[in-house]
Amino acid sequence: MTEKFAISVKSLIKQYGKFTAVDGISFKVKSGEIFSLLGPNGAGKTTIVEIIECLKKPTKGEVEVFGINIRDLKKQINIKRKIGVMPQNFNAFDWLTVKENLEYFKNIYSSNKSVVKLIEDIGLDGKTDALYKTLSGGMKQRLGIAISLINEPELLFLDEPTAGLDPQARRDTWNLIRKLKEQGKTIFLTTHYMEEAQELSDRILIIINGKIVTDGSPNKLIEEFGGKKLIILRNCKESLLENHSLKYEINFKGEVQIPFENNEHLFKILNIFTDIPDIEIEIKKPDLNEVFLNLTGKRMTAEGLVK
Ligand SMILES: Nc1ncnc2c1ncn2[C@@H]1O[C@H](COP(=O)(O)OP(=O)(O)OP(=O)(O)O)[C@@H](O)[C@H]1O
Ligand SMILES: [Mg+2]
Repeated sequence: MTEKFAISVKSLIKQYGKFTAVDGISFKVKSGEIFSLLGPNGAGKTTIVEIIECLKKPTKGEVEVFGINIRDLKKQINIKRKIGVMPQNFNAFDWLTVKENLEYFKNIYSSNKSVVKLIEDIGLDGKTDALYKTLSGGMKQRLGIAISLINEPELLFLDEPTAGLDPQARRDTWNLIRKLKEQGKTIFLTTHYMEEAQELSDRILIIINGKIVTDGSPNKLIEEFGGKKLIILRNCKESLLENHSLKYEINFKGEVQIPFENNEHLFKILNIFTDIPDIEIEIKKPDLNEVFLNLTGKRMTAEGLVK
């Protein structure tokens, strides 16, 4: 295994008693990338993350972080020094301010990081002296990210960093994560939000019940498993489609769906309809939701997997 991989996991198995939570998983994370572990509740994401963070022991398999085997207890400290961790359902001290919470963790790590600068970097400047318990959900999560940065880690683990946040707070957190990537950090994200994985990740590993479903860049997965790109036409009489040798279907809403291959093909089809008034045109490209549906026959929702 080479050094350019921040993480290397080989045939990882984790059993809790007789229950197998992680069932033979292998993957590598390159330095500098945002890598997402995507899966529904109970898929095994936190278990995998906590093993890589040296918090849990694997039942079987090999895990290396920065080329160091996590079973090598003497060298584990070299891993811990270089990683930052924001656990799932993170919580700080309610009755300490943002600054006091950060100073607490700074002392634990004997870090030289400037707390003021850190507060600025994560966009909590206006809240330096606010008690943790008075922060909004998004601000609390961002303080969690700030705490994980206190030891200036190369590799950051964020376990469901936007769970329960509203769309704006989620977007703010995404921007912060992108900024951290630009600073050269490797980011290991776990999420059950499709959109989050698609927006942020260089690579995604989809898991269900402790097993890999597939992996790849968002674009590759969508290209490979997303299905058809469609032009959707509303208020379009079927007679307009005759004489153009178009493949099309009418969906249950009465909309015309025309599949297209690439931009050239798309423009050629759209040209047919340029002069026709009242037609409403929508271009629909598949996203990760379709990838997941096509691979598993199920949709991943906040309530879990649904058929
Ligand atoms: N300490 C434990 N003892 C027994 N079973 C456990 C333990 N920790 C986790 N599990 C089980 O292992 C499976 C994987 O759990 P894990 O927390 O890794 O999933 P997850 O993908 O992080 O889920 P979520 O999206 O809900 O956070 C679940 O079925 C869970 O109940
Ligand atoms: Mg979890």
